[in-house]
Amino acid sequence: MSATTYPNYSPGLQGVVAGITTISEIDVETSSLTYRGINVHELAEHAVFEETAYLLLMGKLPNKTELAEFKARISNESVLPKEVIEALKQCPKNMHPMDRLKTVYSMLGAFDPDYKADPIDHDANVRKAVRIVAKAGNAVAAAHRISEGLDPIAPDPELGIAGNFMYQLKGERPDEFVTKVMDASLTLYAEHGFNASTFASRVCVATLSDLYSGIVTGIGTLKGPLHGGANEEAMYMLMEIDKMGDAEKWTRDALANKKKIMGFGHREYRIGDSRAAYMTKLGKEIGQRVGDTHWGEIANTMEKIMWDEKKLFPNVDFPSAYAYYLLGIPIPLYTPIFVIARTTGWCAHMVEQLDNNRLIRPTCIYEGPKVTAFVPLDQR
Ligand SMILES: CC(C)(COP(=O)(O)OP(=O)(O)OC[C@H]1O[C@@H](n2cnc3c(N)ncnc32)[C@H](O)[C@@H]1OP(=O)(O)O)[C@@H](O)C(=O)NCCC(=O)NCCS
Repeated sequence: MSATTYPNYSPGLQGVVAGITTISEIDVETSSLTYRGINVHELAEHAVFEETAYLLLMGKLPNKTELAEFKARISNESVLPKEVIEALKQCPKNMHPMDRLKTVYSMLGAFDPDYKADPIDHDANVRKAVRIVAKAGNAVAAAHRISEGLDPIAPDPELGIAGNFMYQLKGERPDEFVTKVMDASLTLYAEHGFNASTFASRVCVATLSDLYSGIVTGIGTLKGPLHGGANEEAMYMLMEIDKMGDAEKWTRDALANKKKIMGFGHREYRIGDSRAAYMTKLGKEIGQRVGDTHWGEIANTMEKIMWDEKKLFPNVDFPSAYAYYLLGIPIPLYTPIFVIARTTGWCAHMVEQLDNNRLIRPTCIYEGPKVTAFVPLDQR
């Protein structure tokens, strides 16, 4: 089956325009990304994650008063109901943190004061969005601690989403640099147009389902290694290369064997991922601070070969992997960190979808058997 046989068919929906949005724009020519018209690098450099969250959800950057109020609201809404904590204690030991997160958000819907609201009630949807975003960092940290047999740590109202996540994970307040890295990383991961998980969550709510169902859909879709799961896979790959001790040989062998190299390539970009350069800079900076630059060196070798041989470039998941590793974050939490950030993009898109909704229902080409007579069971 090929696109040539069926002119209107594009495998993987590549290049298909599936909607109109005012939330973010990817410029493939310049490899740049803007959230509501603002360059993501400027946000990563100069703003805390809450400013990006506000921008995506409310449509504009907050002023000082609005930011303070928003942070207070996030802080108030970040606490998880005790029933959710109890449910996390019942999760099987081997359950991946992304699956724990699906469980958390499945339950949280019914605790939301707007649970019964009309699915197209814009104000209720924005209120739900703030509650969803507020709880994500807490949910990831609590789920992890409980899976390790530790007690969850209550959020510190003095800290923002980035700082609180590190504090609730490790039990120590992070320094300014670590908080800045997490703020920037969450900002870079927050939103990216009609990517697979965002599109999936839009499809979900377009049936007039609810935002929490859309979040569960988004988490399930992000989990796969061709999407968000790539940051975890990239770190396991880097560790394998480190063990083998020859990054050049490993990469050339992998290419010769047609192996997919995690953290490289992108469906939209052709010359580079807008977010990767900034994350690479941060990853290398962390390496220098902690006195371990060898992951950055392996990365340099791989990046050169991948570009020279295949014109493939690192996407944001590649530098995020070793940046998180150097911050001492357990590898199975890398994709959940992506969730903390992406709840903002998912929610902004679901609100946008429901503000001007139409059921999303594409068509397909049938290539199965021609119509044949039904044969009764006793004659088969
Ligand atoms: C992101 C990704 C899924 C985009 O996929 P896509 O647009 O469907 O492109 P394809 O998978 O069809 O790849 C096109 C070609 O590039 C190659 N390619 C793409 N990404 C590659 C990678 N990471 N390593 C090796 N080869 C790769 C494919 O093998 C294919 O080569 P071929 O034409 O010789 O068969 C793909 O680049 C990938 O799997 N990357 C690794 C996972 C990843 O990092 N995901 C996070 C994305 S932000």
